[in-house]
Amino acid sequence: MIEFTFASAIPDDADTVIAAIAEGPKLFPTAEKLDQTAGGVIARAVGTGRYKGKKGQMLDILAPESMKAERIVAVGAGDYEAYTNLDRQNLGGMTLAHVNKSGARHVAIPTNTPVDVAAFMHGMRLRSYRFDQYRTKQKDSDLPTVTKVTMVCDDTAAAEEKFARLQNLADGVFLTRDLVSEPPNTLFPEEFANRASELAKLGVEVNVLGEAEMTKLGMGALVGVGQGSERESKLVSMKWQGGAPGDPWLAVVGKGVTFDTGGISLKPGAGMEEMKFDMAGAGCVTGLMHALAARKAKANIVGVIGCVENMPSHNAQRPGDVVTTMSGQTIEVINTDAEGRLVLADALYYTVKTFKPKQVIDLATLTGAIIVALGSYQAGLFSNDDDLAAALTAAGKATGEELWRMPLGDRYDKDINSDIADMKNVGKAREAGSTAGAILLQRFVEGTPWAHLDIAGTAWTKSDEAVTPKGATGYGVRLLDRFVADNYEA
Ligand code: BES
Ligand code: MN
Ligand code: ZN
Repeated sequence: MIEFTFASAIPDDADTVIAAIAEGPKLFPTAEKLDQTAGGVIARAVGTGRYKGKKGQMLDILAPESMKAERIVAVGAGDYEAYTNLDRQNLGGMTLAHVNKSGARHVAIPTNTPVDVAAFMHGMRLRSYRFDQYRTKQKDSDLPTVTKVTMVCDDTAAAEEKFARLQNLADGVFLTRDLVSEPPNTLFPEEFANRASELAKLGVEVNVLGEAEMTKLGMGALVGVGQGSERESKLVSMKWQGGAPGDPWLAVVGKGVTFDTGGISLKPGAGMEEMKFDMAGAGCVTGLMHALAARKAKANIVGVIGCVENMPSHNAQRPGDVVTTMSGQTIEVINTDAEGRLVLADALYYTVKTFKPKQVIDLATLTGAIIVALGSYQAGLFSNDDDLAAALTAAGKATGEELWRMPLGDRYDKDINSDIADMKNVGKAREAGSTAGAILLQRFVEGTPWAHLDIAGTAWTKSDEAVTPKGATGYGVRLLDRFVADNYEA
């Protein structure tokens, strides 16, 4: 855990001081000032070789004896003219990764725009995430060294206030990353419900339904997916009423398949371990609720997660089974590996019927096809409402959790008609696979303005990114926190 602090001067025990360099290279005013104490070494160092101050370009400079610090790190900020808080956040993340490699312990960041630099520190915090609880031995050389970061500015109070809000957001992102990283033998539906129940401490009203209650409600699709598992399926709702009682509700629904073997339509073995992250939609909803409650968001939000384990067994659902959903509509299960839409069909219908939200947004690692279409940099966005789609796209741009709109429509809808039931859980072979999943969900939202985010490609990263170490990304928490702030609190 890094301690993030604020001070009006560079602390004596800071061993590393950051000098911000715009492309050119050109020293920021704060770097100019530092360079006076440093006897001009910064200007000289960044003027050598290929250093240009490009975004993320780092240069370690040995601090002169006139300074208490050991080293100055010239951090390339790139083109500063068009800078956004997102750029600052990314730069913070890259800086932390760099100084951890150098062995820095206490890093000081001189600045004159405290509010902006809260975003820089937020990026550092996001990048500092680790999931170490299953390691019993680690070499010192593999451990991060930074224990303290000090932002140096005049108005420390303003900076602290801005950063406190971002700490709550990062806590939410970390909760999501923890849940998604957790192995499937420890995070099964009941345990997921227990973890979600801890949000009660923040004032969230949590309600858990078990299989008996869900069966009574007629949720044959959700319960059918979990019937092959020893673990009981759970439907969890988390209510945060931070707005006025009469204010409209936003509902956020997540796919929480704690492990997806494919069921009887078994997945191939290679890479199957990745399917522990098939609960990332539900993980996002839970982390989002944490972030909103922790910062006491002035909005009414309900999160609903459908938690099931998709296993083959003597009791598992078969290809060919027909299930009856809570809505009364029937679904022919052609492929037991298209289970997420079955879970969400009941979770979405339950949500719109129970909470009557103004809008409903679901997040799901729903299809491999969305990875084929969009890769891992943007999630798929499907919506029956152009305004909602535009608002989500804007929030995605602002937070760097981007969305790309994908089609729905009658012709795709026809593709999921079944010969013997109201619909089937797959569309045409090899055609528009992500839309086939989305369009089934659309049949369960009862005309409510709705958006479906297919996060199969964005929930997990195989390589380090600016603010995300490789592994669970926490995708969606920052996006929806922003969406709520701009559309429900403004
Ligand atoms: N959880 C998977 C989708 C997925 C695949 C997420 C890869 C992340 C990475 C989902 O349940 C699934 O298996 N979908 C099938 C649907 C098909 C059977 C219609 C798929 O995408 O292959
Ligand atoms: Mn599946
Ligand atoms: Zn799945």
